[in-house]
Amino acid sequence: MEEPADILRCERVELRRWRTSDLGALERTIRESLDHLVPWMPWASDPPDRGQLAEFLALNQEQWRTGEAYAYAITTGGAMIGSCGLYRRIGAGGLDIGYWLHPRWTGRGLATAAAEALVGQGLRLADVDHVEIHHDAANTASGAVARRLGFAEVGRAPLPAGPAAPGETGIDVVCRMTADRWRARTAARARRAG
Ligand SMILES: CC(C)(COP(=O)(O)OP(=O)(O)OC[C@H]1O[C@@H](n2cnc3c(N)ncnc32)[C@H](O)[C@@H]1OP(=O)(O)O)[C@@H](O)C(=O)NCCC(=O)NCCS
Repeated sequence: MEEPADILRCERVELRRWRTSDLGALERTIRESLDHLVPWMPWASDPPDRGQLAEFLALNQEQWRTGEAYAYAITTGGAMIGSCGLYRRIGAGGLDIGYWLHPRWTGRGLATAAAEALVGQGLRLADVDHVEIHHDAANTASGAVARRLGFAEVGRAPLPAGPAAPGETGIDVVCRMTADRWRARTAARARRAG
């Protein structure tokens, strides 16, 4: 199966495929981010211990090989500031994008930059013609990332199991970017840039 690049570089962030040696930095970044993550990330209410994080990093290697998921550390200037990835959980031809940032690094456009790099990479894979961002209706910060990148809202519906994290309403908003729409957007931006 065709794989994405291990490193995705753009002007403001570098996304680097998780390595097992990232354990200490990942543990610290999560610990410092927990209060900010608990409302939106179901796993944050029962935070993973060091052993579970080691399993997560090992699982990432496995999922990368099977094509199930491609998860990256978000870094800037060498500092690890969050996590993001492309996940094969929305059916054929699609990849779902997820992300979180350390709170010290929010409000600077870095999640949008990371998501933009993921969209470009995801849509370059031969078997992918659309990517999606799913967020809870109350998670306006996450929805704003999708909106800034030109995603179209294509669905809004209650999740059968209800809210998964304390800040959520349980209403799942689905935002989609197709390969055609991304190409048109990229071409329009290139024209504007002269
Ligand atoms: C979702 C999350 C990653 C978004 O982070 P964020 O900092 O709001 O998003 P960005 O990094 O793209 O930054 C956008 C902000 O930077 C500002 N900004 C500054 N320079 C910018 C630039 N060059 N480009 C875009 N935005 C820029 C924007 O105006 C915006 O500020 P505002 O929220 O005050 O309007 C963050 O809120 C988070 O980690 N939440 C917890 C986990 C979570 O909810 N994950 C998603 C689950 S679906």
